[in-house]
Amino acid sequence: MNYLRNTWYAAAWDHEVAGKMLARTLLDQPIVFYRDVFGKAIALADRCPHRFAPLSGGKLVDGVVECPYHGLRYGSDGICVHNPHGAIPKAAKVTSYPLLEKYSMIWIWMGRAEDADPALLPDFSAIVDHQRRTYVSGYLRLNCYYELATDNLLDLSHVQYLHPLIGNTDSSDRNTFSLKVEGNTVWAYNNMPGEPLTKMWQMLWDGPPTTLVDRRAHMRWDPPSTLLLDIGVTECGRPESEGISNAVAHILTPESASATHYFWKAGRDCKRDDTELSEKLRIGLDAVFRYEDDPMIMACQSRMGGVTDLMSLKPILLATDASAIRARRVLAALIEKEQAVTFAT
Ligand code: FES
Ligand SMILES: [Fe+2]
Repeated sequence: MNYLRNTWYAAAWDHEVAGKMLARTLLDQPIVFYRDVFGKAIALADRCPHRFAPLSGGKLVDGVVECPYHGLRYGSDGICVHNPHGAIPKAAKVTSYPLLEKYSMIWIWMGRAEDADPALLPDFSAIVDHQRRTYVSGYLRLNCYYELATDNLLDLSHVQYLHPLIGNTDSSDRNTFSLKVEGNTVWAYNNMPGEPLTKMWQMLWDGPPTTLVDRRAHMRWDPPSTLLLDIGVTECGRPESEGISNAVAHILTPESASATHYFWKAGRDCKRDDTELSEKLRIGLDAVFRYEDDPMIMACQSRMGGVTDLMSLKPILLATDASAIRARRVLAALIEKEQAVTFAT
């Protein structure tokens, strides 16, 4: 597949890489994650260059990976440090990928290692703002191509049809949709003035459940596929600062043409100490993504005959597709530019 390489992809939640090795395929490449003796996260190609055994099936010996098949050992730079059968062949090494630990996640750089600049990571401080928000989070493996999942997240018009927990079914005439593009960042805005509280907001709202509110959903997209959603409600006509909100990260990393890693984390600024509510939200949001979004996108991809390039099928486009189409164009241009440089050098 044609992926953007010189960029940060979310590889795992930081707590997923703990005592034992984690095997995960990203951008069609099998990778093993673990921590060295100092607790530093390491990512190596998960394929021993001898007989191509998965290193993730082996064990960690003093922070060094031992291949399960014939015992070659690889250090954190991917170079073989031990051969129990004789001299170490020069080619006995695997790729070691640059990693960055930030915003409670491990990010991986799968392009030119020397270009791995931490400053290029989009700002996700909203998902570690523990002074102001209480979080629930999860991981889901979606059964679809990541660009279709990005389209779904930037298309805020599907919420009222597909997600009864979050959206109202009768708000279409009051909905407004707009977008903003700044550099490589695309925003999708959906404002819904003067509507009743949806089921999720009824759970979070402190006042009477009959209150009419102004609701908003503002999604930010940065290439290749990292999204941050600001959703909130405010009593009609009142400023946003008086209302309540949820900051929700939707971070996608392609596994292959038919699978996507989906990391989500939602932080509310209301009813913060209610642990029972946290559990209800965690289960409810997981169900929305698992049982509503994923099957729908998978069904669409199936009807597309397995094609991943949506535009090649000439879909009709609606006004509400504008943000997703802009994001697709930005990503396509970045991939094209990157490949032009790669082929020129
Ligand atoms: S396959 Fe890894 S040591 Fe033989
Ligand atoms: Fe959705």
